[in-house]
Amino acid sequence: MRISVIGTGYVGLVTGTCFAEKGNQVLCADIDATRIEKLNQGIAPFYEPGLEELIKKNASKKRLHFTANIQEAMESAEMLMIAVGTPSDLDGSTDLSYVMSVAESIGQHMNADKYVVVKSTVPVGTCEAVRNVIERVLRARGVNYKVQIVSNPEFLREGAALEDCLYPPRVIVGVENDETQQVMLNLYRPFVEDTSKILFVDIFSSEMTKYAANAMLATRISFMNELSRICEVTGANIDLVKKGMGMDPRIGPHFLNAGVGYGGSCFPKDVKALIKTARNIGSELSILQAVEEVNQQQHDHFFKKVQDYFKGQLEGKTIAMWGLAFKPGTDDLREAPALRLIEKFLYYGARVKAADPIALEGARKLLSFESRVELFDSFYEALNGADALVIVTEWPEFKGADLNQVKASLKNSVIFDGRNIFLPSEMEELGFDYISIGKEMGLGLQKQTAILQPQQITNQWIN
Ligand SMILES: NC(=O)c1ccc[n+]([C@@H]2O[C@H](COP(=O)([O-])OP(=O)(O)OC[C@H]3O[C@@H](n4cnc5c(N)ncnc54)[C@H](O)[C@@H]3O)[C@@H](O)[C@H]2O)c1
Repeated sequence: MRISVIGTGYVGLVTGTCFAEKGNQVLCADIDATRIEKLNQGIAPFYEPGLEELIKKNASKKRLHFTANIQEAMESAEMLMIAVGTPSDLDGSTDLSYVMSVAESIGQHMNADKYVVVKSTVPVGTCEAVRNVIERVLRARGVNYKVQIVSNPEFLREGAALEDCLYPPRVIVGVENDETQQVMLNLYRPFVEDTSKILFVDIFSSEMTKYAANAMLATRISFMNELSRICEVTGANIDLVKKGMGMDPRIGPHFLNAGVGYGGSCFPKDVKALIKTARNIGSELSILQAVEEVNQQQHDHFFKKVQDYFKGQLEGKTIAMWGLAFKPGTDDLREAPALRLIEKFLYYGARVKAADPIALEGARKLLSFESRVELFDSFYEALNGADALVIVTEWPEFKGADLNQVKASLKNSVIFDGRNIFLPSEMEELGFDYISIGKEMGLGLQKQTAILQPQQITNQWIN
C-alpha cells in the first residue's frame, strides 16, 4: 500500500518505519524541514532503541522516504495517516490545531479518493470533525472525492516502540464500513499472527478507547502513589504490597510502581483531556480529577522528603540528580518529573548537577540558561561534592552503580530514591541514609510514627 504519514514525531516516524518494514511504500512528511533533512541522512530526530537502524534499512530498500513537501505527501498516497501532536491547551482541553491544519491541507491537495487514518490521540468526535473540514475544503474546490475516515489510535511505549509497533498486543481500529475494515485488516495482518488481536469498533469507541486506556494506567500509578504515603507512616512496604497485589490475576503486576509521579507526553495531557471532554458535556470525572491531583502531590511529596532531611535548608546545597527523561529508554522530557523537581530545588536556592544517559541534548535546550544547573554525561561526575543524590529515572545503569564510589563522591551519604531501585537493608548496610518511596524511611522520626499504629489499635480495644 502507498501510505503517507503526516508528522514524523515518536508516533509518525516509528509507525511509518514499521509500515515500510512490512513492505508498504511509505512517505513520511513533516513541516519541520530540518527534521526531514536529518531523516534523509538517516539520522533519527530523537532516541528510540533500534529506530535509526530500521530507518536506514528501509530507506536503502527504497520503501521509506521523507519529505517536507506536504502537497506531494497528500497526492502520492492512497492512505493518509495523521500523526501530528495533540498537546494540552491551557484549560486542559486538546489543542487540535495541528490535526485540523492537516485536515485543511488534505482537502486542498486531495487528488483522488483517499483513506484518512487518524493516529493522533484525539477526543471523541474529532475524526468526524476532520472529515467535515476535508469535505468543506473539497466543496470549496468544487471537487467530490470520497473520504474514508478511520480512527486508529497508537499504543506504543517510548523506549519499546519498535517492539510494540511490530508485534502489537492489540490494534484498535474505528471504521464506518466493511470496505475500510478490509483495507485496515490487510494493512495490519502482517503485524499479528492472530487477527483476533485486531479489534474493529465504531469510530467514537475507538477514539475513546485510547483515552480510557491511558486514564486507567495513570489511575493505577496514582493509586499506588497515594497508598505508598500510608505505607511510609504505618511501616508497610509498598514494594511488597505491590508484589502481593500483582499476583492476583484480576489485578496483574503492571503499572503498580509507586514513584515520583507519572510524566511524559501522554498521561498528563490525556488525563486532562478526558476530564475536559466530560466537563464539556456537563459531567465530572471525579476519579480522574483525583488521579491528577495525587500525581501533582506526589512530585511535591518526594521533594519534601529532601527538604525535610535538610530541615528546610536547601539554600546553597548541591543536589546530584540521576535521570532526567520521564522514563528509561527515551530522551523525551515532556512533563518529566525531573524538570519539576529541578524547578523546586532552584526555587529553594539549591544547585543541581544532573546526569542522564540519553536526554542531555534536550535538557541543554531547556536548562542552559540556568546558571545553577550543570549537566553531565557521567553519572559519577554529577556526584562530586554533592550534598545528596536524588534518583528520578530508573535507568538500568543506575541499578548497577558502584555504591562505594557513590558514597565516596557525595558530601553526605544520603540517597533519595524516587524509583525504589535499591533495597533499604542493603543501603543501610553500606552506611547510607536511604530514603525511598512507600517504605519505612530509615529515619528516627518515621520509625517512631510507624510503631504508633499498633498501639493505637491496641488502645481502641482496651478502652
Ligand atoms: N509519544 C508517544 O509515546 C505517543 C504514544 C501514543 C500516542 N501518541 C499520540 O500521537 C500523536 C503524536 O505524538 P508524538 O509524540 O509523535 O508527537 P511529536 O510532537 O513528537 O511529533 C509531532 C510532529 O508533527 C509535526 N507536525 C505538526 N504539524 C504538522 C503539519 N501540519 N504537517 C506535517 N507535520 C506536522 C511536527 O513538526 C512534529 O515533528 C499525539 O496525539 C500523541 O498523543 C503519542
